[in-house]
Amino acid sequence: MADSPLSRGCKVTLLLDMTSLDRLRESRAQTAIILGSGLNSLVSESADDKIASYSEFSEIPRPSVPGHLGRFVLGNIGKTPVVFAQGRVHLYEGHSARDVGAIVRILAEAGIKQLIITNAAGSLNPKFKPGEWMMISDHINLTGTSPLLGSAEFVDMSEAYSLRVRERFGAAARKIGMTLHQGVYAGLVGPQYETPAEVRMLQKLGADAIGMSTVLEVIQARVLGFEVAGFSCLTNLAAGLSQEKLSHDEVLETGQRAAADFLRLLSAKFIPGCLTGPGRPI
Ligand code: HPA
Repeated sequence: MADSPLSRGCKVTLLLDMTSLDRLRESRAQTAIILGSGLNSLVSESADDKIASYSEFSEIPRPSVPGHLGRFVLGNIGKTPVVFAQGRVHLYEGHSARDVGAIVRILAEAGIKQLIITNAAGSLNPKFKPGEWMMISDHINLTGTSPLLGSAEFVDMSEAYSLRVRERFGAAARKIGMTLHQGVYAGLVGPQYETPAEVRMLQKLGADAIGMSTVLEVIQARVLGFEVAGFSCLTNLAAGLSQEKLSHDEVLETGQRAAADFLRLLSAKFIPGCLTGPGRPI
């Protein structure tokens, strides 16, 4: 364990974690998908033996947000084994940036090489409409923190979101006639939504979408060498860009409706190319 993602900068790992990790490893998946708010329906119900609750891993705090279940589901997309992470840890729940990265460190320990991160986000770009999807080309970390605090891990972030995977998913989206934007995601702490003045500032900074997750997970994933792809489900126009008041229920509802489109993308004919890491055919 001396050099493992779990033990890096972390003092205690319980033995229980190892047996649960073995179950994740047994799936032989190389790809994991973290599901954001309202996107749980991407996973159909599976038998109990295909599920590992986050509570089996001492390092992962319990998610406390409606719409976030807190478990790994060992499933498949087509013939490709995939670990779905249903639920994530957020800063706004009072957890540390290192806690937010725990799910990613467990996935690295389980042998995952490619991480697909999804989230619900508000659209800042007038061309990106609620219910549509945006592939993240880059991010702005406005949380003021990092899961790498306390280490001296100077990870390169110049292509945090793999160009190779973006090109493949872009081609897959065109093939199935799905609208898939590309843009910059700004990650904030939350849990309050933004003010209209903050939204105007974020537009000037060059962000296309805003949310309260993803950026810390991606930093954690890059330092562990994952190939990363990120997808934002645009659940609403950001504050001040429409007359509507923002609500978490609306975010969940729109996420649930848009999930079907994302599933279509993941199941697209040449998805094996999307889900295969460089030089690592699945
Ligand atoms: N702002 C921040 N986070 C979000 C939003 C938003 O408008 N919509 C969904 N998550």
